[in-house]
Amino acid sequence: MDNYRPKNNSGIAADFQQEPLITTLPNPDSHATSIRATALVFADPASVRLLEYIERIAPSDATVLIIGETGTGKELVARQVHKLSHRKDAPFVALNCGAFSESLVESELFGHERGAFTGALNARGGWFEAANGGTLFLDEIGDLPISTQVKILRVLQEHEVVRIGSRTPIPIDVRLVAATNVNLAEAVQAGRFREDLYYRLNVAALDLLPLRERPGDILPLAKHFMQRYGARLKLNDLDLGKDAERALLRYAWPGNIRELQNVIHHALLVCKEGRVTMDDLHLNPNFGVSYHNNAANITSTPSLKALENALAALYEHPTEHLFDTIEETVIRTAYNYCENNQVQTGRLLGISRNILRHRLKRYGYLA
Ligand SMILES: Nc1ncnc2c1ncn2[C@@H]1O[C@H](COP(=O)(O)OP(=O)(O)O)[C@@H](O)[C@H]1O
Ligand SMILES: [Mg+2]
Repeated sequence: MDNYRPKNNSGIAADFQQEPLITTLPNPDSHATSIRATALVFADPASVRLLEYIERIAPSDATVLIIGETGTGKELVARQVHKLSHRKDAPFVALNCGAFSESLVESELFGHERGAFTGALNARGGWFEAANGGTLFLDEIGDLPISTQVKILRVLQEHEVVRIGSRTPIPIDVRLVAATNVNLAEAVQAGRFREDLYYRLNVAALDLLPLRERPGDILPLAKHFMQRYGARLKLNDLDLGKDAERALLRYAWPGNIRELQNVIHHALLVCKEGRVTMDDLHLNPNFGVSYHNNAANITSTPSLKALENALAALYEHPTEHLFDTIEETVIRTAYNYCENNQVQTGRLLGISRNILRHRLKRYGYLA
């Protein structure tokens, strides 16, 4: 189960060796291809205020609701809340609620007894039990079915879980940190999210701004990722050119910090001897403020002309269901481009996530 991250015994180090902006955690783990949170950058004044707020609420047992676009650091902040709490040596368990079907999610959360349903060959504890004494991070909480929301509320109120197929409550002591990239208040209005759970979660709310709204973080983060990836690639003399800096600052960062991390990683792979110039940055031209982001201009960009030509060629020799084929191609290539991230794909294409999911299902990319 790769959503379960085993406990990490590290606390927060009091050392701020190089820059006071960076909170360093000891024993950085280097096993993953993406960089696990070993240090946090909070440079922009808005981020400094956020960090202060995190430090104030973390020691309590209050439920925390983290709100932010994809890639803004929700999981990293959840880990930070855990590490700054008295639970820091107990498990931190992260679960993406959107990753399970409605029928599975409850047995994942609450566990089940043997024979509770077809296929339940053995009894198994759920993630609430796995997080006992520590913190349970529920990502994309807005994706939970209403019936499951009721049960979560009950767990929070009674401090006990009942496995599916059992009648015996198991006492648990878990702090819940939830995250959402959708507006839960709107979901409440629309009847998709329970109001009582919303208020129960929203005891402490952490709003993570999109990266473009905290520009003071962009260059410190870029340099931070350069150091990390540079060390891994054994590059010395790292340098970020002025033109590259300007491009990074101008860009709108639809994928936020995760996208910045990927852009830097890629730039270090293609640049010459650790010197990153603008040409090494792979920025999506649709989001570069000073690229061709102007709607009036967009038909004259070379890539759109190329697309028109390709379409004209298809019209010459039309196949059946041509529109469907073209639409599927658009959705598939965008989804690939965004590394199967639905939120980013929706934003890239300017369509709602619902519509996107609907299409992905129709084409068989989603169950
Ligand atoms: N303040 C920060 N300092 C350094 N790295 C960060 C910071 N915030 C996010 N990251 C990195 O950006 C990536 C995306 O963060 P994550 O917490 O997974 O975002 P989300 O859960 O909101 O999609 C992760 O690799 C994370 O380590
Ligand atoms: Mg996340």
